[in-house]
Amino acid sequence: MKIGLLGCGVVGSGVLKIVDGMQDSSFAIAKILVRTPAKITEACMTADPDEILNDAGINVIVECMGGLEPARTYVLQALQNGKSVVTSNKKMFALYEQELRTAAAEHGCALRYEACAGGGIPWIHELERIRRIDGISSVRGIMNGTTNYILSNMTASGMQFEQALAEAQAKGYAEADPTDDIDGYDVRSKTAISAMTAFGMPADPGDIPVFGIRTVQAQDLAWGKAHNRILKLIGRAEHTNGSLSACVMPVFLKNTDILAAVGSNLNAVEAVSDTLGPSMYIGQGAGSLPTAHAVVQDLLTIRDGCLCKEPEARVPVSESGRTAQYYVRTVNPHAFADITAEKADTNILLSREITLTELCTYIEKASDSSLFIAEVEK
Ligand code: HSE
Repeated sequence: MKIGLLGCGVVGSGVLKIVDGMQDSSFAIAKILVRTPAKITEACMTADPDEILNDAGINVIVECMGGLEPARTYVLQALQNGKSVVTSNKKMFALYEQELRTAAAEHGCALRYEACAGGGIPWIHELERIRRIDGISSVRGIMNGTTNYILSNMTASGMQFEQALAEAQAKGYAEADPTDDIDGYDVRSKTAISAMTAFGMPADPGDIPVFGIRTVQAQDLAWGKAHNRILKLIGRAEHTNGSLSACVMPVFLKNTDILAAVGSNLNAVEAVSDTLGPSMYIGQGAGSLPTAHAVVQDLLTIRDGCLCKEPEARVPVSESGRTAQYYVRTVNPHAFADITAEKADTNILLSREITLTELCTYIEKASDSSLFIAEVEK
């Protein structure tokens, strides 16, 4: 297997290191695409994508560039040229999965994405294995290392949000633009990818409601502590009677929930299925070598034979069938008067059981940019 590596940043350099260390003669990285000619330091490097995408000797492309374009165009071109693809680019894959799967199936290629959700955890592979026997009814988890690092440090040591974010960036966990981490968009991509793999129900990631932790403050974590709860950013999706519900939301988990004990930058993901019941997977969800490990696992899977099937049609996401209680901190509590079950402080209230769709109408009316909401686990 001759591999073309697109991108040699945090994940790409990890892939190089692992492949070099394996000294397995059945596969080798033949060419590496770097961003500009100035970055070329080895003979196998090029800044011209066509040198890789049109090289008939290269049969697998690893895409670790990140971002939507030109990553999507290069992956499509590779598939159209009959090359199998491994990608770690969750944002791009969640958005264009239908188009990419169609191209892969048409051209008889494999398309693998283990590193796109759960980082180094073999989560996608496990979902595929569970589905060989069981229907999966729900998935949920801590799917972002950066925000888990921030919330864990703020909870344990009172570290400020900005300092914890800077540390997560320095360790290579955060996205180039950490907006995707702290506003929940990274988890939204991973939730969409987990749902499509678990249920065979692809959805437009833009249909999944998303709430992040940008506005979280020490007083929110203090409320959790006083009520024996730990705050985590959770992605979840459920499949009931043919419909898909999914959401990304900070949740005040009970202290007794296993996810509440998963700290630092770790990820933890859980699937519930027919005969296996709940099964949980914990490990490094970000970082160079753990993520690269998932990429190299995909390469080995392709080497051992697997082709991509045609995509399923996308389904709508509906949150109208599920109710929960929400913690709301707002400078405008009057806007929530109709749905307030309990006032916890002058600017903190607990809602009655309500659908997220209904809550969103009140959030809109409150027009409060500092508003923070979190689900309170039942
Ligand atoms: N920024 C992501 C995280 C990287 O912190 O989890 C792994 O997808």
